[in-house]
Amino acid sequence: MKANWAETYYKRQFELMRSNSAYPANNFFEEEVSLLLEQVGRPSATVLELGAGRSDIANILARQDRKIVTIELVEEICGYAKKHAHQNVQALCGDFYTIKLQRDFDLILYLDGFGVGNDDDQSYLLQRIFNWLSDDGYALIDIYQPLYWQKIAGQEMYPFGIENIIRKYDYDEAGNRMTDTWWEKGKENETITQSLACYSPEQIYTLCEKAGLQIIAYYPSGAIDFETGAFQKIASLDECLSYRIKLKKN
Ligand SMILES: C[S@@+](CC[C@H](N)C(=O)[O-])C[C@H]1O[C@@H](n2cnc3c(N)ncnc32)[C@H](O)[C@@H]1O
Repeated sequence: MKANWAETYYKRQFELMRSNSAYPANNFFEEEVSLLLEQVGRPSATVLELGAGRSDIANILARQDRKIVTIELVEEICGYAKKHAHQNVQALCGDFYTIKLQRDFDLILYLDGFGVGNDDDQSYLLQRIFNWLSDDGYALIDIYQPLYWQKIAGQEMYPFGIENIIRKYDYDEAGNRMTDTWWEKGKENETITQSLACYSPEQIYTLCEKAGLQIIAYYPSGAIDFETGAFQKIASLDECLSYRIKLKKN
């Protein structure tokens, strides 16, 4: 179930980004929401967002009168989300593996972060998503793409341009997981690492099918070009860093 590293990593990452004022600008989230609405392709009155972080996306979606529930594990991040929540957003602090929800939703989102546990944990979460989804609802989930992470293993950078923090990407071949390690310059012994399972389009199709969910679309995201350092907004399914799947009940 809940991975040991998750709370430590996301809490520390939140502190580092906050103390360096390193969050993306509002127009980044506005663009994300436009894209997401285009992918959903129809109105949804009730939305559930898993691993919602500060609820930046939820707050924008909520402006159009949707009722949104967000779930976030880390108390400090959730506290921020509650403080800044739009009136249509109910920000819940909790673990999406164990939290009890009394209703179903037209749309379920898990943006950036799927793959925290092992395959059984992922299957269990997909079953929970099946149970929370209304009969004609959609879910959108971002999946890390293994070929990209294999290719860029070993790359180091300054996350969000913060020059006192180093970020190193790697790939665990045995476990098929991307790893993302952060440390402050001069504090190489105090690293934090996230480790997320990567799935090919075929592998995730099979995992979803076992949970009664069918993938009806794949949307590749972009990729960092490490030669130029620029982020390419459009990449193929084999070259993107992650891709979004659109799911419905089988
Ligand atoms: C990579 S961040 C993405 C945040 C947000 N979705 C976004 O795109 O900005 C993943 C988030 O999922 C949360 N998370 C991880 N495991 C969780 C769990 N078991 N239950 C609820 N939230 C979890 C983390 O604390 C973190 O804030």
